Amino acid sequence: MTSAALPPSASVTVRVPAKINLELLVGPPGADGYHPLATVFHAVNLFDEVTVTAAEEWGLSVSGPQSLGVPVDGTNLAAKAAQALAERAGVDEPVHIAIRKDIPVAGGMAGGSADAAATLVACDHLWGLGTTKQELEEIAGGLGSDVAFLLSGGTAMGSGRGEILAPVLARGTYHWVLALSEGGLSTPAVYAECDRLRGSVAVPDPVPTPEMMQALRSGDARALGAALQNDLQAAALSLMPALTDVIDAGLEFGAVGGIVSGSGPTVAFLCEDTESALDLAVALTASGAVQDVRRATGPAHGAHVIGGPRPG
Ligand code: C5P
Repeated sequence: MTSAALPPSASVTVRVPAKINLELLVGPPGADGYHPLATVFHAVNLFDEVTVTAAEEWGLSVSGPQSLGVPVDGTNLAAKAAQALAERAGVDEPVHIAIRKDIPVAGGMAGGSADAAATLVACDHLWGLGTTKQELEEIAGGLGSDVAFLLSGGTAMGSGRGEILAPVLARGTYHWVLALSEGGLSTPAVYAECDRLRGSVAVPDPVPTPEMMQALRSGDARALGAALQNDLQAAALSLMPALTDVIDAGLEFGAVGGIVSGSGPTVAFLCEDTESALDLAVALTASGAVQDVRRATGPAHGAHVIGGPRPG
């Protein structure tokens, strides 16, 4: 058991990206209620920052443009991540976790999972554990379906609940415009709506499409735009019908593809280059169809330390 070896001011800051699912294929729910997935994760350069500081007691605070509605107690996934790593490593060194949120909350971009991934990396660094990537991924898999991917970032295949990762060959940089909506969508509610809409129709086990793999290999934005696919989109549109107008507006204003991100309600539009992304962002803002618009590029690196190396 390690105890109170760190000076009170020791801190580490980690930056972590948001994700989009370029392809999200959803199978029928298993006995545990979870749905088997075949997904392609893609990290984009919209970041949260998590600073962990050695403290007398465990604590958590949230600031930044997207902080509204984020829990600051033990139910926050970042707090669970720190506790899980501490337990696994036999560490008894409380930390304060300060989250600066720029990733939309309940937006389908894995903001909570991103903070959990960042906290794992930050605590590992602060406590000087040197946990292997494989071990961190194992802990991440127990916290949520997207946490493991956000440790690595880039573009990767996810299967199982999404936590089993495999590399994909992906070329190029992609330019995205993210249309943010007022209010979030609950991920379990969107999965439940997907099941409801499917009714008794038999759903095959999800398998990645050759079109997506080919588009990523080519690095061609138009091919990728045509291959974007999300089985949760119909459910997100059913729960938030105004999103249909958002998608229509983005495609009309020149996007080469548009898709609900994960369980929504953020809509991700793919553009051919920086200029067309700028034009689309301006047009969507002027249209009044969206609450806010952000530009981003992908792939982006996963959770990485940006400051506050451990003293000594
Ligand atoms: O794993 P995560 O916390 O992101 O999942 C949130 C919720 O989304 C789960 O409680 C479950 O209802 C649903 N889900 C699912 N199948 C998956 C991933 C998530 O049904 N593969």
